Amino acid sequence: MIRRIGLQNFKVYKNQEFTLEDGSTAIVGPNGSGKTSILEAIEFGFFRMVTRKEKKVPQVEDLIHHKGKRAIVELEFVAPINRRNYFVKRTIHPGETNAELFLVGNKDPEETGVTRVDNKIVELIGLNRHAFSALTYVRQGEIDRLSRLAPKSRRADLYSMMGLGIYDKQSSKVQKEIRQMDKDSQNISESIKRLKQVQDHLPEKKEIDAALKALDSIEESIIKKQIQEVIQKVSDSVIAVEEQLASPELSTKPEELKEETEIAKHLKVLLNTIPDVAENQLRPHIRREARMIFREIFGDRYSDLVIDDDYEIALYDLKGNRVSLMAASGGEDVCVNFALRVAVNTALQRHSTTGPPPGLIILDEPGAGLDAQRRRWLPEAITKLDVVNQVLVVTHMEELKGSTDHVISLIPQGKGRQPIVEVD
Ligand SMILES: Nc1ncnc2c1ncn2[C@@H]1O[C@H](COP(=O)(O)OP(=O)(O)OP(=O)(O)O)[C@@H](O)[C@H]1O
Ligand SMILES: [Mg+2]
Repeated sequence: MIRRIGLQNFKVYKNQEFTLEDGSTAIVGPNGSGKTSILEAIEFGFFRMVTRKEKKVPQVEDLIHHKGKRAIVELEFVAPINRRNYFVKRTIHPGETNAELFLVGNKDPEETGVTRVDNKIVELIGLNRHAFSALTYVRQGEIDRLSRLAPKSRRADLYSMMGLGIYDKQSSKVQKEIRQMDKDSQNISESIKRLKQVQDHLPEKKEIDAALKALDSIEESIIKKQIQEVIQKVSDSVIAVEEQLASPELSTKPEELKEETEIAKHLKVLLNTIPDVAENQLRPHIRREARMIFREIFGDRYSDLVIDDDYEIALYDLKGNRVSLMAASGGEDVCVNFALRVAVNTALQRHSTTGPPPGLIILDEPGAGLDAQRRRWLPEAITKLDVVNQVLVVTHMEELKGSTDHVISLIPQGKGRQPIVEVD
């Protein structure tokens, strides 16, 4: 899915290109050599931000090489939506970023300007940054994220993995509109009430006419003129109140608002239902896949992994005893998480109605905390991920180095210098 990454003055990289292939690629090198930086460049290229410890890095200019004026990230990728090759170029200047998106081979950009490029990329890859984090990019130290979450947040995470988070967002938007319409409607009712009270205190039109007629018989005088003026003012007020009450703002708006509120309420119900329907369809597949993968890894110790309707996860030991995820060991946790992510990816790849996910999995140090047996299993499991076209895995694990299709080795050159890159 990702074909090429070009970096200029991005963190430790002065000027470096990486060509990536389908299949599995291990990125290896000592601490601080620039492994995670490559993954951050991918995230930045797609979403104009970098996440660390579950938070956005507040200032992207920190990504500019200490000695550089601006950083450039170029990312070439195949869009799952149409299988065409695109190329995004983002420049970071202190205080601002620029972006351009090209179809590979075209001189003129498809989109320019950060927001337009951001939106177009989400459309092309079918993921926003939340779904990307949940489905595709497992950050360093976050492999156990899914199991650490409360079931409710786990459900939200899985929803965003399935691309269903968008409905939640729309639903909150509609709810906000409903509240505003209720408020408007209340304001209008109050205005009508107030105007009617005023009207009660004013004379009717025929009373004014009668008063004016009565004045006819009086001789012209200053007093008569003053009375006429007063009556005229009262008459103006009567007309003004009537006009206001008959204005579209007060006469037809309440009906319109009522109708719009009804529609919005229906829409909200619909928006809440769609993800449930989609999720209901996918859930059995996710459960089946997760259970299959987990049994493959931990068949020697566990008989089952069960995800219930509330996304509570439980393991069953060989004697059929339930072991809560809280009681599972660190390594078991890693495997449950791995199984879950792969399961969602696989289920989506095979059964998604909203289009396939990008077929890319990025793992930063997934093996931390695994014992020798599991460490042997993990590389095999990763290379066997046939539904995922491209796996990028950052690792210190010796076991992994020999078992991926490709290896990118980073050899540090000392402080402030970019590493030597060897591709195998
Ligand atoms: N703006 C910058 N300019 C130059 N170097 C930077 C900048 N920001 C960070 N670095 C350096 O980049 C190096 C690479 O960091 P990175 O996170 O990619 O390492 P890593 O290979 O993933 O290491 P680990 O194995 O410890 O996770 C770090 O040593 C860091 O000090
Ligand atoms: Mg790292």
